[in-house]
Amino acid sequence: MPSADVVITGTGLFTPPYSISNAELVASLTVSVNEWNAAHASEIAVGAREARQVPDAEFIEKASGIKSRFVMNKDGVLDPHRLRPHLPLRGEDELGLQAEMALPAIHEALAQAGRRPDEVDCVIVGCSNLQRAYPAVAIEIQAALGASGWAYDMNVACSSATFSIQSGVDALCNGSANLVVVVNPEITSGHNNFAMRDHHFIFGDACTAIVLERAADAIASEQWEVLRGRLQTKFSNAIRNDFGFLNPSEDGERDPMELVFRQRGQQVFKEVCPMVVGHIREQLDALTLEPSGVRRFWLHQANLKMNQLIAKGVLGRVPNEDEAPVILDRYANTSSAGSVIAFHLHRGDLVSGDLGVICSFGAGYSIGSQVVRKR
Ligand code: COA
Repeated sequence: MPSADVVITGTGLFTPPYSISNAELVASLTVSVNEWNAAHASEIAVGAREARQVPDAEFIEKASGIKSRFVMNKDGVLDPHRLRPHLPLRGEDELGLQAEMALPAIHEALAQAGRRPDEVDCVIVGCSNLQRAYPAVAIEIQAALGASGWAYDMNVACSSATFSIQSGVDALCNGSANLVVVVNPEITSGHNNFAMRDHHFIFGDACTAIVLERAADAIASEQWEVLRGRLQTKFSNAIRNDFGFLNPSEDGERDPMELVFRQRGQQVFKEVCPMVVGHIREQLDALTLEPSGVRRFWLHQANLKMNQLIAKGVLGRVPNEDEAPVILDRYANTSSAGSVIAFHLHRGDLVSGDLGVICSFGAGYSIGSQVVRKR
């Protein structure tokens, strides 16, 4: 069965309750840096340590396009003596935090699709930051929805949404599912390094959901054919997080900063942009489509300059906001959720026959995309 016989029939978005501006983030890290420098003043004076640099809100917006981000907890992140969210432990009998974020997004997506939760027979959680090893968060969500069938978690970092959409499309094509929910609950604040000025501004929390079904079964008033999906990976250490199940048994001294997100931003920028341009061009070539025929690009939302460079590489000119909408100014990098937030918020004006590309990229390296057409 061709993937074009699978349609997206609904999307949903959960936006966390708290927003943090660049100025607020910079103010708390500045207090922390100044206190650290004062505490180490004598070592800094004799050259035994380097003074830490304070962050700058103007730099953040200029370098990334980010103005603010949403988080599940604000107090902990902005506490200069903590610089990480407060996420109270929950008991086994309580709904987990990721499931809690997922449910409103899924209900919104199912309402668009005209479907009931008990009709769902496949739930795929795709995200960078899973809150536990097992049982799968997706199975907890399946139970909370009252869905049947099967569910599993997968992690391809920032590309988790497009990779999990593809898994859902494949399940529908091969007949192992009839109504798929793909959900991306990203609590990036739990694995962001708010103490490092190179990274502290990058991420935000959010959760997106997508409903997929076979076109022959769909009843939604708005449907998007998945014309073609493409997944691509190439190993790189430029974005890395060594948090894992072997940490408690590892011999040797590990820098705790290796157990959260880290990256070589310039390298990522230089290596990933041309890969994504090639990826999208090959996608369009395979469908004998011209880039000019694409009405909208819903790109991964990590860095504004990166997106402009990628869209320019594909189109041959800098895109306007109508062609490549930006949501990272308010949401920052929400990892896998970013391109789906852009699709969710910026597709209402498109008409039947309009073509678009949902594309994500990130650690791995991993790149995923779906070419979609409004029915
Ligand atoms: N405030 C003030 N200055 C800062 C700063 C901050 N918050 N963070 C970094 N700087 C400084 C650096 O220390 C550096 O100073 P130096 O020139 O004295 O060494 C200077 O600003 C430039 O830093 P650099 O890291 O080269 O900036 P950049 O222009 O590359 O922007 C990123 C940084 C992270 C925004 C950018 O590299 C990026 O977005 N890369 C791709 C990220 C990405 O997509 N990752 C995927 C994650 S899933």
